Formats: sequence, C-alpha cells, structure tokens
Amino acid sequence: MEQYKEKDVLMLAIETSCDETAASVVKNGRKVLSNVIYTQIALHTQYGGVVPEIASRKHIEKINQVIEEALKQAEVTLQDITAIAVTYGPGLVGALLVGVAEAKAISFATGIPLVGVHHISGHISANYIEDEDLEPPFVCLVASGGHSHLVMVKDYGKYEIIGRTRDDAAGEAFDKVARAIGLGYPGGPKIDKISREGNPEAIPFPRARVAENEYDFSFSGLKSAVLNYLNSCRMKGESYSQADVAASFQKAVVDVLVEHSLHAVKEFGCGRFAVAGGVASNSSLREAFERECAKRNIRFYCPSPLLCTDNAAMIGAAGYYEYMKGKRSGFDLNAVPNLKL
Ligand code: KG4
Ligand code: ZN
Repeated sequence: MEQYKEKDVLMLAIETSCDETAASVVKNGRKVLSNVIYTQIALHTQYGGVVPEIASRKHIEKINQVIEEALKQAEVTLQDITAIAVTYGPGLVGALLVGVAEAKAISFATGIPLVGVHHISGHISANYIEDEDLEPPFVCLVASGGHSHLVMVKDYGKYEIIGRTRDDAAGEAFDKVARAIGLGYPGGPKIDKISREGNPEAIPFPRARVAENEYDFSFSGLKSAVLNYLNSCRMKGESYSQADVAASFQKAVVDVLVEHSLHAVKEFGCGRFAVAGGVASNSSLREAFERECAKRNIRFYCPSPLLCTDNAAMIGAAGYYEYMKGKRSGFDLNAVPNLKL
C-alpha cells in the first residue's frame, strides 16, 4: 500500500465534461494513486460523434462505480480524502452536471471540502504529474476537441491566453476530416494511425495565418480545403488515397501548431514548453515538437497519451493547487458550459 503522511493532501477528482466518466485519487498534486476512466467512445461511434443526452445518461449510470473503483485502486476510503476536485466547466452542460452533483453530494454527506476545477487548467496540469520538477512559468499549447489555446502559465492556476482558435479547434478539425474521408469517430487517433502509411507532402493544403494575432489559429479553411479536394476528385471520377489525404492534412495542422507555439516560446521567454489536450497525443505532433525544441534548446514537456485525453488525474493535480491557495466551492457550485480560463 502507498504510504502517506498525515499532512499529505489526497484529492478525489471527478471528471465528466464530455464522454469520459473518470475518477482519480492524486497525492499532493503530483502522484497518481489511481486513474479510472470509463470511456463512452464505443457508444457514440455509431452516431459519428458525442450525443450529449446519451453522454449524460451514461455518466449517471457509471459515476458511482468509477469513484468506488478509484478509491479501491488507491487503497483508500473517503475518510482518507482531504478534498474533492470536480470539473465544473467548460463542457457539455448535462455531462458536467452529473460530476458536479456527485461531488456536492459526497461533500455534503462527509464534510470533505469541495473545489471546482476548470477543465483546461486540468489539461495543463497533467504536465505536473508527468514531470515532478516542472514549475511555472512556461508556455503551454492546449489542443483538444473543444479548444486550441496557446497559454502562458504564469503561476499555478494563473494563466494568460496568448492565442486561440478563431473557428474550429484542432481536434474538431481532425474529427471532421476523418469523417469526410470515411474513417469515422474519433478522428484523431485514426488519422494519426493511417498517416503513417501516407505521404505528408502529397497534397499542398493551406497553413492559415490570422492577420491580427500571429498566435491565433484557424482550422476551418484547412477543413474546407480538404473537403474541396475530395469533391474535385469525386467530380473528376478519380479515386484518392485516404492515407495521403490524412497525412497531408495532419502535416498542415502540425506545421501551424509547431510554428505558432515555438514563436510564442521565443517571444515570451522562459525556455520551457508543454503540450496538453487530446491532440497532444498525436505521434507526429510529439515528434515534431521533440525535434524542434531540441534544436532550439527548449525544454519540452509532454504528458503520456493517457494523461493528454480526458481523465480525472489532471483535475486532481489542478485541484490540489487551487486547494492549497485556499479555494473552496460551496454547494451552489454549478456547471458552467462556457467557463472562461
Ligand atoms: O482532450 P480531449 O480528450 O477532450 C476534449 O477536452 O475535447 O480531446 C479529444 C480530441 C478529439 O477531437 C480527438 O480526435 C483528438 O482529441 N485526439 C487526437 C488524437 N487522440 C485524440 N487528435 C490527433 N491525434 C491523436 N492521436
Ligand atoms: Zn478535455
């Protein structure tokens, strides 16, 4: 059994913002004692994307079981838990509500303090778990299904957004392009896999720049360019290579993410760069960052793929630093679907 001292802070963390029902026990914000994830992906695949109503219902069905399993795997009981961290936004309102209501109920019944956590702060904090020595300040690229942000992490839980997407998030573009070329949902991992057999230089898809802010992203033009390419192939009666389209699209996304991020690291200093969010598990993106950061003597931080996609351990890490700063949420804590960072 994991040994812990009286003053250790054990967070029970709960995450239900989208299609993963997740619970975790995290010690002192850095050490994961358990990380249980029930993924609903198979359930939503037949609809080609997440169906919010189905996600909420499944969360309700699974949440107690997932929490019990997280406590069991960590070899603790609720009596050992110092505080409960829960994602309260952004995300799907019905999905978020399940986690928030559950966390409030446990807190009410046991008297354990409650801490509401921002989902993106959670994604960024996955880096604290992966690398026990990482401390702010650093620049972080958050690229997930709902968000693409370049963030200056000034201190624990203290963020300045340097750049953001003007339209689609990077993961959203992966999902839409995957659907268009017949790979299905979820698109990111499927494009990642098939791209290994394709030529990334086969089709010259655009690398978008946003005139007013050099750190902002735009992926809708790239998505349209892929759809136009597919249409023109169909109209000419020509076949296209799924692998070449996937690899060329992926290269266009990776080039833009790498260029903007490294520019931000140079401008904002500190020589440390981290990635976060589901898209950060993309193998080609990770390789590109590793290579380019090494060339520039930038220290690169990258959570393992399981900590990049949605999980509760990252919420436990972010929640720990909020708790240590004295943050406590009341029973009026509510789900905030469009919560700002
Ligand atoms: O962080 P996440 O699990 O959930 C959100 O907060 O959105 O990110 C999910 C997104 C999806 O769009 C998925 O297609 C993308 O991350 N993704 C990937 C990969 N794995 C997941 N995108 C590219 N390559 C991957 N290997
Ligand atoms: Zn997420």
